[in-house]
Amino acid sequence: MNKNEVQNELQYIEKVKEINQNKHLQYYIFTMGCQLNENDSEKISGMLEKMGYTRTENSKEADFIIFNTCCVRENAEEKLFGKIGEVKKQKEERNAIIAIGGCMMQEKHIIEKLRKSYPFVDLILGTHTLYKLPKDVYQILQTKKRMEDVVDIDGEVIEGLPIKRNDNIKASVTIMNGCNNFCTYCIVPYVRGRERSRHPQDILQEITELAKQGYKEITLLGQNVNSYLREEKWKEKGIEWEGVYSFATLLNKICEVEGIEKITFISPHPKDFTDDVIEVIAKQDKISKLIHLPLQSGSTEVLRKMNRKYSKEQYLALVDKMKKQIPHVKFSTDIIVGFPGETESDFEDTLDVVRKVNFEQVFMFIYSRRVGTVADKMENQIPEEIKHERFNRLKELVESQIAKNNQAYIGTKQKIIVEGYSKNNENMLTGRTDSNKVVIFEGTPDIIGTMVTLEIVSEHMWYLKGKIV
Ligand code: 5AD
Ligand code: SF4
Repeated sequence: MNKNEVQNELQYIEKVKEINQNKHLQYYIFTMGCQLNENDSEKISGMLEKMGYTRTENSKEADFIIFNTCCVRENAEEKLFGKIGEVKKQKEERNAIIAIGGCMMQEKHIIEKLRKSYPFVDLILGTHTLYKLPKDVYQILQTKKRMEDVVDIDGEVIEGLPIKRNDNIKASVTIMNGCNNFCTYCIVPYVRGRERSRHPQDILQEITELAKQGYKEITLLGQNVNSYLREEKWKEKGIEWEGVYSFATLLNKICEVEGIEKITFISPHPKDFTDDVIEVIAKQDKISKLIHLPLQSGSTEVLRKMNRKYSKEQYLALVDKMKKQIPHVKFSTDIIVGFPGETESDFEDTLDVVRKVNFEQVFMFIYSRRVGTVADKMENQIPEEIKHERFNRLKELVESQIAKNNQAYIGTKQKIIVEGYSKNNENMLTGRTDSNKVVIFEGTPDIIGTMVTLEIVSEHMWYLKGKIV
């Protein structure tokens, strides 16, 4: 996308703002799915606020309702159609504009269902037409006609549009988009397109600006974050920008940004976890020592069918190497249970890896068939009750490990960034340890945004309690 197109959209923002003047209009945004979607929603919010809408958390009060969708698992579909049904009334009663965008809109069967059964939806945006929101809203306001603005999945990376962030200490920065891996269960490569990396200069500029605004923590996002610049072949081509030509060199450069205290990244692929990245994590204090390393399955045979390109042994060897080289490293992971053909012994392999690695956090998913993926056509789909039974066994193991791990925190000192008041306990402040455990503690609001040292006094499964020392 070139600068003229961004300029063009910025002009449409002004035009819509003029139309909306003095009308006190409100928008409601509903975000599904991963942090990349959350980050896209921050961009949507940025544009809408510049167009004169203010945010409301109550969809009944909204004049503009937008859904940012995800299609990684099936239950998202049911949830979306339920939600759209709910807002039909707002269309009838206050003529609200209803828009739907994101991954699910790249799926043909969904678009057809929307056309047929939900004709009151005004605007459909794809994963790469998000930036056209101002122009589309302008046209809807002018013509009152329904619009679909979905293009193919390989659109360019967008730079230079407004953004309204949800938090003022932590910020997400998307560094690459798309995926080339085609894991056989996954829909992402079909809806997000091929890998495209942002230019390091744009990323560094954004992070430097965030640091100036007082942000302390940066999460780098990408569907395959550690293959940053790989497809563009920066290293091979000998291109670099101020020493950045790969994921490892980007991490190093971000560590130089004054004011940024903590850097995390999601999601890396184990097959792309190169030694230079491990070295940077070990060397740089600012980089979180909790590494998210999606396992998906502990069985070499299932991993082969998933097209993950590593074996059980290779995964464990990578974890061991990192444990040796990075002091105090901890891991979180994603696991799918019930992939087609998964036997009891395959599942035992998954439990075995979970026992050996001792993850801090496990995001557990029941395999969900996705139309268009290779695994959807595989034989030996696993019956629902077996999937659920395995899921419960995995959950039990994970929870017993978490409870045990939590015990080890008691009495330790933890340096954390004070994020604000706890959502569940308004009298307590909250922050997270380097291993991403939520800690609550007593304190005054003036320390919000600063780093403090806590002593952990008790554990409560999903959070720890601490006191400032
Ligand atoms: N079924 C279940 N889980 C899935 N994931 C991706 N696709 C599917 C699917 N079809 C999980 C993977 C991935 C996480 C974001 O979602 O574990 O890492
Ligand atoms: Fe999906 Fe695999 Fe790509 Fe992750 S790496 S987005 S699981 S295809």
